[in-house]
Amino acid sequence: MTILIEQPQVPTGIDHQVDDIHKKIDTSNELVLDGGFLMPESNAFGQTFRDYDAESERKDSVEEFYRMQHINQSYDFVKTMREKYGKLDRVEMSIWECCELLNEFVDESDPDLDEPQIEHLLQTAEAIRRDYPDEDWLQLTGLIHDLGKVLLHEKFGGLPQWAVVGDTFPVGCAFDESNIHFKYFKDNEDYNNSAYTSKNGIYTEGCGLNNVMMSWGHDDYMYLVAKENKTTLPSAALFIIRYHSFYPLHRCGAYKHFMNEEDHENLKWLHEFNKYDLYSKSKVRVDVEKVKPYYLSLIKKVGISPQS
Ligand SMILES: [Fe+2]
Ligand SMILES: [Fe+2]
Repeated sequence: MTILIEQPQVPTGIDHQVDDIHKKIDTSNELVLDGGFLMPESNAFGQTFRDYDAESERKDSVEEFYRMQHINQSYDFVKTMREKYGKLDRVEMSIWECCELLNEFVDESDPDLDEPQIEHLLQTAEAIRRDYPDEDWLQLTGLIHDLGKVLLHEKFGGLPQWAVVGDTFPVGCAFDESNIHFKYFKDNEDYNNSAYTSKNGIYTEGCGLNNVMMSWGHDDYMYLVAKENKTTLPSAALFIIRYHSFYPLHRCGAYKHFMNEEDHENLKWLHEFNKYDLYSKSKVRVDVEKVKPYYLSLIKKVGISPQS
């Protein structure tokens, strides 16, 4: 894939902007967007977000999803997938085609979302657009952050859900207990491999997250696609794309010992992005046709050809 943005906005003054946003949200407790979009207090099933214990029709399948993911996402598996998909030699399509392709799928790992993926992408991008009207790069990141879920499609290998979605975590080092449904790691082939069971495992403290292998899925795939095609998106965008499902880090603060200085800067943007990614998952609908022209014009600045 090639992602080229004319004169991308390099993030500056994130602390200041984040403070402003927090003030805006804290005082009104709701984010009013163009077209009457409101920051919701509950997910599509009427529960608080990311409540993995809440009784819902999705609970058992979400737990089964994590059982499969934790058993199968080993260091060797990730290495194989990165080598295979890093070649990017099979399919090309536009961003919008990619968004539409995702409409066929529902993310089985997500306890909050049962809407088509294109709505989630547009809700995320629209919420960002409202608060960051001049940050093209961040809006685009919102639009494309989940496009790697095309891995579910047969054109891209038709991978099982556990190899595409769900919270992510490093492989090659000890699994942190903050990982959701941690108990299922006991059946992962790496669990008793002495090379991978220490806190640092095969890595060194402060090595930088870009040197750490993450469980395979849509995040790492999209990151590889953007990076291999020498995207001009700023490093904060790549950080958001690669780690937006890395909840053990950005929710629980685990694995921070691998971060370098740049990671710490970019993490601020990821925290900001996560609000839009998470809280846009609601029953509030986006009129796809209404916002399509804006995003097509945004995409015009971008050359893209996702490949598997
Ligand atoms: Fe995602
Ligand atoms: Fe998302």
